[in-house]
Amino acid sequence: MEIMDLVRTRKSVRTFDGRALSDADREKLMQYTQTITNPFGIPVEFVLLDAKEHGLSSPVIQGEQLYITGKVPKVPYCEEAFGYSFEKLVLYAWSLGIGTTWIGGTMKRERFEQAAQVKEGEMMPCVSPLGYPAKKRSLKETAMRAGLRADKRLDALQMFYSVDFSISMQMDEKIVQDALEAVQLAPSAVNKQPWRIVRRKNAFHFYVKHSLRHEGMDIQKVDLGIAICHFMSVTNGTLQFDEPELSKNADTEYIATVVI
Ligand SMILES: Cc1cc2nc3c(=O)[nH]c(=O)nc-3n(C[C@H](O)[C@H](O)[C@H](O)COP(=O)(O)O)c2cc1C
Repeated sequence: MEIMDLVRTRKSVRTFDGRALSDADREKLMQYTQTITNPFGIPVEFVLLDAKEHGLSSPVIQGEQLYITGKVPKVPYCEEAFGYSFEKLVLYAWSLGIGTTWIGGTMKRERFEQAAQVKEGEMMPCVSPLGYPAKKRSLKETAMRAGLRADKRLDALQMFYSVDFSISMQMDEKIVQDALEAVQLAPSAVNKQPWRIVRRKNAFHFYVKHSLRHEGMDIQKVDLGIAICHFMSVTNGTLQFDEPELSKNADTEYIATVVI
């Protein structure tokens, strides 16, 4: 599947059919994880965790047998790096018909961290179940999606700007339209879509608009890593750190720039 097909069709999967991943799919996924890099240059180590063996579950997930997580060194930009690399895995899994759900909150974190052997100086921002989607979503999942308005996204006018935060972005070129659609459709914690972009010529400056409180780890910076992954996967742009001078609200923080 092409990248736009993947981002348009991917949805979080919380109801699985109970089958274990085939050996072939498991092998493909693990091989793929070895090839994943991110433009932040921070390595993410992926770990597969058998649910039964480690007593792992999430109250919103049903029918899963396997989880995957990743560990990153606690350094600046580790959340964004994790978001970027883990989303690569999510999209690849979807291309094989394997469902995932980013989970940063609805889990017993200590149990997952123990199973993944997270060490001092490392962070395990999120986990995901891996499995084949059930034919029908559970009632809990259906209710949860409705509560999150999971099939809705903010309007482009509220997220994408030109020059500064007062002018909505013109989206003339097809590649820019696709890239911004890919950002718009990205998964985010509590579906908050905290990414904001200001375009200046061929430079797309990414910001996070904070709306969730955080301690220790900033989950919305993981969302930014995901958004940048989608944008760069469509445009093949390059990542730079080049914060423009512009006035912004106190809740808005510069992350990085993608030049196309
Ligand atoms: C960083 C991150 C953390 C998330 N944490 C959870 C979680 O703890 N539990 C959960 O059920 N979904 C979680 N989600 C999934 C979002 O709720 C979901 O992506 C969003 O509602 C949009 O739905 P979609 O993924 O089907 O497009 C998380 C997503 C992201 C990106």
